[in-house]
Amino acid sequence: MKKLFIIANWKSNKTIIEAEKWLHDFHDKFVSENIDLSNKEIIICPSFTLFERAHYYSKNLNLPIKFGAQNISPYDVGAYTGEVNGKQIKEVADYVIIGHSERRDNFLENDEMITKKLDMTNRYNLCPILCISEPAQISKIRSQSQNLKLQNLIIAYEPLFAIGSGTPDTPENAEKIMQNIKKELRDVPVLYGGSVTSENIKGFTKMSNIDGTLVGGASLDPQEFLKIIKNA
Ligand code: PGA
Repeated sequence: MKKLFIIANWKSNKTIIEAEKWLHDFHDKFVSENIDLSNKEIIICPSFTLFERAHYYSKNLNLPIKFGAQNISPYDVGAYTGEVNGKQIKEVADYVIIGHSERRDNFLENDEMITKKLDMTNRYNLCPILCISEPAQISKIRSQSQNLKLQNLIIAYEPLFAIGSGTPDTPENAEKIMQNIKKELRDVPVLYGGSVTSENIKGFTKMSNIDGTLVGGASLDPQEFLKIIKNA
């Protein structure tokens, strides 16, 4: 059975109290439904302000989840006001989302910036979840980043029209794109992202080249996120 990655991207949502409630509700439902996670890796990506409490609760509640950051500084430790660097992230997370289209659009991140961030994940042994909206972006980034290690990389294909729109890509179309990506990247896990819900998840995860999903809006509700995990 293939391993599935189910990743929650909370984006810029939730206060500490709201995150605590999410974790408690997730735990209660998880325990009562006895969900089988033997082939599933669950990764939660909260805002930086939430990590400390999220760790505390996930440890106390013994939750089978890992953590990812939503961003990483392109620079190392030092005088870079406002940035959170790879060394700091390594203390709280194993994964980092990089190249999300919301960062390209709202914060003008380009391939050069994304390459620098990938290099930082490599330096601190973090696994990048590299988001792309076009497969061609991969070759471009690969040609710029000498440090991209295929054995420590997850790709998330997220077509722009599908993000937050309620209109996902079709599983058949996503599968075709994943197939092409895998011709280049072989064993790298490739995820689908964009308007995933508990209703449509199975259509994607049953495809042989789709190794999981990056979930935005639907991950904010713990009941719905658990349904996604269950139905995947
Ligand atoms: P969405 O977001 O599930 O709300 O469409 C996905 C993403 O942006 O990663």
